[in-house]
Amino acid sequence: MRRGKLLDIQVDLRSNYVKLKIGANIDVKPGQFVMLKGDWEEPILPRPFSIYDRDNISFTVLMKIRGKATRKLSKLKIGGEIRFKGPLGNPYPEFSDRMTYLIGGGSGYAPLHFYAEHCPRKENIIFFIGVDKKDTREFFDEVKGCRYEWAVEDGSSDYKTVVDLIEDYSFPPDAVLIGCGPKVVLQTMLRIAEMNSLEAYVSLEEMMVCGVGMCKGCAVKVKEGDRISIKHVCKDGPLFSVKEVLLEW
Ligand SMILES: Cc1cc2nc3c(=O)[nH]c(=O)nc-3n(C[C@H](O)[C@H](O)[C@H](O)COP(=O)(O)OP(=O)(O)OC[C@H]3O[C@@H](n4cnc5c(N)ncnc54)[C@H](O)[C@@H]3O)c2cc1C
Ligand code: FES
Repeated sequence: MRRGKLLDIQVDLRSNYVKLKIGANIDVKPGQFVMLKGDWEEPILPRPFSIYDRDNISFTVLMKIRGKATRKLSKLKIGGEIRFKGPLGNPYPEFSDRMTYLIGGGSGYAPLHFYAEHCPRKENIIFFIGVDKKDTREFFDEVKGCRYEWAVEDGSSDYKTVVDLIEDYSFPPDAVLIGCGPKVVLQTMLRIAEMNSLEAYVSLEEMMVCGVGMCKGCAVKVKEGDRISIKHVCKDGPLFSVKEVLLEW
């Protein structure tokens, strides 16, 4: 595994989100992820995180505190060591000439944010993002030049959920939809895409062990003609067309 120092950490305990800025120059493309862990002795496996931001000396992940590993990562001190493997997975394709709707909820915002930062035509990007609280919304940086529609569960915006937001919206026929986040959001997106014959992709966040196609832990079912076969999110994804993937959760 590679090593990097923690250059900065921002923790928002009101919303349970953390930004970790890690000192390492990685050649990462939008959509790719890293497996990372702290320099601890306990046998906690590295966990997958999308890249939220990057510059020539560092990369940043935006993380929701969920369980053991994320809680420990949220308590690291600046200067502490991080170990990581990556970048892993395949970059998202570019659709900069078409209206692209980036649809996400919670930590699903991370890869969409990095994708938008790298898009040469930001005026073609519209975010539909769902978060639980106003505080979470304030912790998520907006990408300059893109349009944002927020859904906030605490009632501080017009819509409470991103599901309500996208169900109420008329997508143009040549739109591209890219989603990442809670299953209910991805399933709604899939249904809307099917009903309106839209091109749409989902970025999946299955639990992972190896991150490189060896353990078979991140298997998803896909349609290949009349057959159902298996692909792996770490090696074949994380992005899948809604035409191929079966979201059976
Ligand atoms: C390709 C990829 C990219 C990811 N990018 C990000 C990211 O940018 N930011 C981020 O916050 N998270 C991201 N995740 C999810 C992240 O890896 C998990 O939240 C993390 O592994 C949880 O570890 P933990 O030890 O804290 O929680 P655990 O102790 O392992 O689990 C605690 C609880 O969280 C649930 N949980 C664990 N993993 C997930 C998951 N993937 N989705 C939903 N619930 C889960 C468990 O079921 C359990 O209830 C990504 C996952 C993948 C596969
Ligand atoms: S995480 Fe091991 S095969 Fe994908």
